Amino acid sequence: MPEKIIVIDEGTTSTRAMLFDASGTPLGSAQREFRQHYPGPGLVEHDAEEIWQATLACTRTMIDKAGGTANIAAIGITNQRETIVFWDRTTGRPLAPAIVWQDRRTAADCAKLKEAGHEPAVQAKSGLLLDPYFSGSKIAWALRNWPRLAEAGDRLAVGTIESYLVYRLTGGAHVTDATNASRTLLMAIDGSGGWDGGLCDLFGVPMRLLPEIVDCTATVGTTDPELFGGAIPIAGMAGDQQAATIGQACLAPGQTKATFGTGAFILSASGAERPHSANRLLATILVQEGGRRSYALEGSVFVAGSLIKWLRDGLGLLASAGESEALARSVPDNGGVYLVPALAGLGAPHWRPGALAAISGLSFASGKAHVARAALEAQAYQAHDLKAAFAADGVDWADLRIDGGMAANDWMAQDLADMLALIVERPEFVESTALGAAMLAACGAGLYPDLATAAGTMRGRATRFIPALNDAQRKTRLTGWQSALAKILT
Ligand code: G3P
Repeated sequence: MPEKIIVIDEGTTSTRAMLFDASGTPLGSAQREFRQHYPGPGLVEHDAEEIWQATLACTRTMIDKAGGTANIAAIGITNQRETIVFWDRTTGRPLAPAIVWQDRRTAADCAKLKEAGHEPAVQAKSGLLLDPYFSGSKIAWALRNWPRLAEAGDRLAVGTIESYLVYRLTGGAHVTDATNASRTLLMAIDGSGGWDGGLCDLFGVPMRLLPEIVDCTATVGTTDPELFGGAIPIAGMAGDQQAATIGQACLAPGQTKATFGTGAFILSASGAERPHSANRLLATILVQEGGRRSYALEGSVFVAGSLIKWLRDGLGLLASAGESEALARSVPDNGGVYLVPALAGLGAPHWRPGALAAISGLSFASGKAHVARAALEAQAYQAHDLKAAFAADGVDWADLRIDGGMAANDWMAQDLADMLALIVERPEFVESTALGAAMLAACGAGLYPDLATAAGTMRGRATRFIPALNDAQRKTRLTGWQSALAKILT
């Protein structure tokens, strides 16, 4: 019986394929960056064809590494969530740019719905808030503004990234998993498990365009043999933040992870009962197996690793992302400099799509090391604000499991422990998103009876960071952050 798993991890800036064995050991990885299109302020688009070609190339490399399709038990897919693709059912080709989760073009549409008083009912059903982040308003905007979509008539298919990749991989299955569906604003997350007619009508999205919602461990089809020379089952799917939560073995209520990728997303498992936030957090589906759902409470921060990338590529302040750690260590403190990273508006708990980033507290004594340090410190401050919102919703974190590329930064990991006054745990293998998708695919392929068993075996060892900052220092820094934040919120 084949026991290797391939994971396609389709993130916001790059696509990766990774090979795992059944015990969760990573055996190889291939990665390709793809272009980010910024056609105007607040607009972010991807070319889904470019993403597909990158996916194909990376997956082929990992199939070769595995020694051929016969050695692969299943493919798991995990993806940047909310980003929405419009394609032609007959050719599989995109009909328009993919509108990315960071895109704010529907801010005014969402504000109008909010003013009309729809948010409480939308939140009660979908667990989400009226913000341009989610797919629903983006789909409606595209249908209204891109005539070629209407011209395509019945040929038009719509879906999030995993849905598009499955369509291309299988040659025509139009499905989405419940976690990705729960990010569209079009699903009632504790309803029947399908799309919600009332929500689809509110946003103006015809349900017939949407994929079928399936389990995260469902075998949704096999790959078209023409692609890889053999048919591989696709047996695991989840949005990247849900996959990371699973990869960190945060399955029991209260267990919490933070993934530092393009953005920073903190999810606490809630168990079988759907959470209701009174503090601007999101209720989302964590996983669906055999039609049974479990849920999570989420705080979404839009800018994390992308801030470091911007300091490197946009401002030329860093030679490499890794340099941020050495710079942060090179100064004794932040020198009064604070960076509020609202480069794509602000997500939880503020939800201010129009907010703009700011660096404050600059003087001639400030150097680039202070700015780099302020950028890393901002991660801990944002996590701190979410910790307070989670606690107000009745979810006190006992500790925090961190992962994602940026979590490899030891200085930042320690700063998180210090500012949160919590033990921070980091697995040796920080790509928990890919590992979680491997766990789902391994369950889907029957290698493990359930996710808890898969997680118990496949999650590796972890390092702990112990809080070491005194209360007075923590309070001084938090006060500085709060006043920098207040300046951009007024
Ligand atoms: O909700 C957006 C999220 O899925 C993006 O994830 O890994 O690109 O930061 P990432």
